[in-house]
Amino acid sequence: MDAAPDGKGGPRKVTLIPGDGCGPEVIGAGIRVIEAAGIEIEWDRQVAGAAAVNRYGTPAPDALIKSLKRTRIALKGPLETQVGAGYRSINVYLRKTFDLYANLRPTLSFEGVPTPFRDVDLVVVRENTEDLYSGIEHQITPGVVESIKVITAHASRRIARFAFEYAQRNRRKSVTAIHKANIMKLSDGLFLKCARAIARDYPRIEYREQIVDAACMRLVTQPGSFDVLLLENLYGDIVSDLCAGLVGGLGMVPGANYGERGAIFEAVHGTAPDIAGKNLANPIAAVLSGAMLVEYLGYKPRAIRIRAAVQKTLRDGRVMTRDLGGKATTDEMASAIIDAMG
Ligand code: NAI
Repeated sequence: MDAAPDGKGGPRKVTLIPGDGCGPEVIGAGIRVIEAAGIEIEWDRQVAGAAAVNRYGTPAPDALIKSLKRTRIALKGPLETQVGAGYRSINVYLRKTFDLYANLRPTLSFEGVPTPFRDVDLVVVRENTEDLYSGIEHQITPGVVESIKVITAHASRRIARFAFEYAQRNRRKSVTAIHKANIMKLSDGLFLKCARAIARDYPRIEYREQIVDAACMRLVTQPGSFDVLLLENLYGDIVSDLCAGLVGGLGMVPGANYGERGAIFEAVHGTAPDIAGKNLANPIAAVLSGAMLVEYLGYKPRAIRIRAAVQKTLRDGRVMTRDLGGKATTDEMASAIIDAMG
């Protein structure tokens, strides 16, 4: 087992939020793979969302917030949020509370996964703290409600800076800002203005802009023409699920929420209520989110090893979950990935 890469010795403490629905199953698989890769982590297990309401009567208990303040890093399963009623999304709450302003979702084709496209390799960079997710909603009069979209220059500049820095560090060729500034001239207009200003600092990275509806069409006809996508919160949420569809579905795409002083790693998908508790969910998105966490902790070669094992398992094709056309369970898929690590 590796000690902490900062040389201070002892395992790193990481908050573990198994989540709701299929969360405990896929997160369990993620932990098995991380441990099999030889990383020693002291997991501080916490509950949130529906699981926390059932146990403590609140979706975000104090113990969870204290743990995150202490560790500043978490591996998280999906959390259930009721539609049209109930408490506010705990995902949104955690991202805002810890100012995890950048949501990164690398979307990659894998050999062996049947999809209409090969060689998709794009990265969604989503602003994570404002837009229509500001939670400012009210009823003006019965039958008329208002939901406020908040866009600030500060948040727009820092997410654009994040996207270009990521592009530069990872030798990406272009950043495309996706918007609807033809209609939302002020809010999306400000987002674009900030992106353009930041783009000037990165002359070697091509900067492009595309209106969100046309971008969706082009994503499903020519996904290879995109590289890094820069989006506000709502467009980023929707477009990243569309991108997941290009590479085999929601079970395939990992994610991370980064701030200046911490990060939460989680798959793009939700609780998958239709298959939860049946050992059927595809654990790859959670395993790859775990690989992002491992890299963030400083163990890049181990992260590469995990990703290579996922690639090998999929290429081999013998152990595939149902969403990928196979019959394997979540646990069997995790075991196959561990075996592929050798
Ligand atoms: P969902 O992502 O849970 O499911 C959509 C479809 O994808 C379902 O058919 C499901 O079976 C499938 N799917 C999702 N993950 C899969 C996996 N790992 N393997 C195989 N198939 C998979 O989205 P839905 O149904 O819209 O939302 C369910 C709940 O999850 C809601 O309460 C929602 O608020 C929450 N949610 C939470 C997220 C988070 O905590 N980050 C993100 C998205 C949704």
